[in-house]
Amino acid sequence: MGQVPSAKPWLLIGSGRLATHLTSYLRQLDIPCRQWSRAHGWHGQALAEGTTLEDALPRCERVLLAISDDALAPFVAHHRHGAQPQPTWIHFSGSRSVDGAWGAHPLCTFGPESYAPEIYPTIPFLLEEAGPSLAELLPGLPNPSASIPAGDKPLYHALCVVAGNFTTLLWQRFFQQLEGRWGLDPALAAPYLRRTLANLEAADRQAALTGPITRGDGETVAANLTALESAGLSDLAGIYRAFQQADQATLSESAA
Ligand SMILES: NC(=O)c1ccc[n+]([C@@H]2O[C@H](COP(=O)([O-])OP(=O)(O)OC[C@H]3O[C@@H](n4cnc5c(N)ncnc54)[C@H](OP(=O)(O)O)[C@@H]3O)[C@@H](O)[C@H]2O)c1
Repeated sequence: MGQVPSAKPWLLIGSGRLATHLTSYLRQLDIPCRQWSRAHGWHGQALAEGTTLEDALPRCERVLLAISDDALAPFVAHHRHGAQPQPTWIHFSGSRSVDGAWGAHPLCTFGPESYAPEIYPTIPFLLEEAGPSLAELLPGLPNPSASIPAGDKPLYHALCVVAGNFTTLLWQRFFQQLEGRWGLDPALAAPYLRRTLANLEAADRQAALTGPITRGDGETVAANLTALESAGLSDLAGIYRAFQQADQATLSESAA
């Protein structure tokens, strides 16, 4: 699917979560790519016997930086100047704008294991508005894409973290409590989790929210808060109160 003939391979930097997924996906698309990481040097075959990273850069068409956000700018500043001809540099951070590298944020979460092949082409890439298209940046990837102003990336990414990472933390707490407090199998909650996601994906997203805050069941809300405090879960009680306020704000926004 989507193979792009190219004289030069791509070079993937990093060996963490996203690098693992990108390696699987590029292999799936038959896009030639070499991988280098700080921890392991060349993964598999180097471009040529004894090739250093500095030697390899001008012999690559693209450099894909799957490294920590904080390492991006120093890495580009250190390595980009020497390579001639200059490859196209791409990073995958949702929050950062990096001099010398275009951003292409895969709007998904990437754990330690590769996903099923059919998942990868569905993941959208969020690009920088003034920059190249996805077809120019990562030719051969059939993924959907959209763009936002680069200056909005910190806000966009903060919203991704709140929606994705914070809900994960809340579900993890629920699973821990079911297991630790009552010895229940956390898998019991799986249908609830799946239905919550399915309802959010449905046409009327506003209708997905149920529960005592939405119903206006004030006594149940008060009982929930007391129970959380009594169980030593006052951090969750604090989150509950913050969500009460956030929900009221959301309701007034949708009514406006
Ligand atoms: N994981 C996700 O869900 C996700 C989603 C969208 C975008 N992203 C983006 O993908 C990028 C990588 O994230 P990740 O989740 O894959 O992180 P990760 O699993 O923590 O891996 C980070 C990688 O960065 C490397 N690294 C750190 N500092 C470095 C340096 N100074 N020089 C060279 N390599 C360095 C690490 O190398 P060592 O092993 O040598 O320490 C490691 O290979 C980030 O920009 C992130 O914002 C991630």
